[in-house]
Amino acid sequence: MRRAVCPGSYDPPTNGHLDILERAAAVFDEVVVAVLINKNKRGLFSVEERMEMLGEAVAHVPNVRIDSWYGLLVDFCRQNDIQAIVKGLRAVSDFDYELQMAQMNQQLTGVETLFMPTKPLNSFLSSSLVKEVATYGGDVAHLLPDNVHQRLRKRLAEN
Ligand code: PNS
Repeated sequence: MRRAVCPGSYDPPTNGHLDILERAAAVFDEVVVAVLINKNKRGLFSVEERMEMLGEAVAHVPNVRIDSWYGLLVDFCRQNDIQAIVKGLRAVSDFDYELQMAQMNQQLTGVETLFMPTKPLNSFLSSSLVKEVATYGGDVAHLLPDNVHQRLRKRLAEN
């Protein structure tokens, strides 16, 4: 069983995330989406909400499952028998930090990281920019799965 993890904050998941998850699922037997809990960062959405949004958005991909984790990613990989970490790369600016993490993780437990280039259409896309644009009334409907867009609108209206 070839199993990969796609880790991230997913606050909220975007079309860019979805594209990487779908493509990773075409290469691996199982893809685990791990929502990493960062106790120092208060997100717009709770970890449970992010997991729900991801579950809805990837419901059409049978070999993807959603999980969450607090701690080192390499420990999650070990516990779930995961051989590879798949990360989307938007631009060279992502590469610097991603390379450091990939090398550190490889050194810690031997887990490999595979980089997948995003579609050019998504190369400017990030959860934080989407939140900022939406907060000030910009249209982000085309950047998010439908279910995520609905929830984002609701959350911003509540705030
Ligand atoms: O979506 P993000 O915020 O860019 O994802 C970054 C994330 C969560 C994948 C990264 O910070 C991570 O792997 N955190 C888990 C803690 C860990 O293993 N840290 C050491 C990395 S070498």
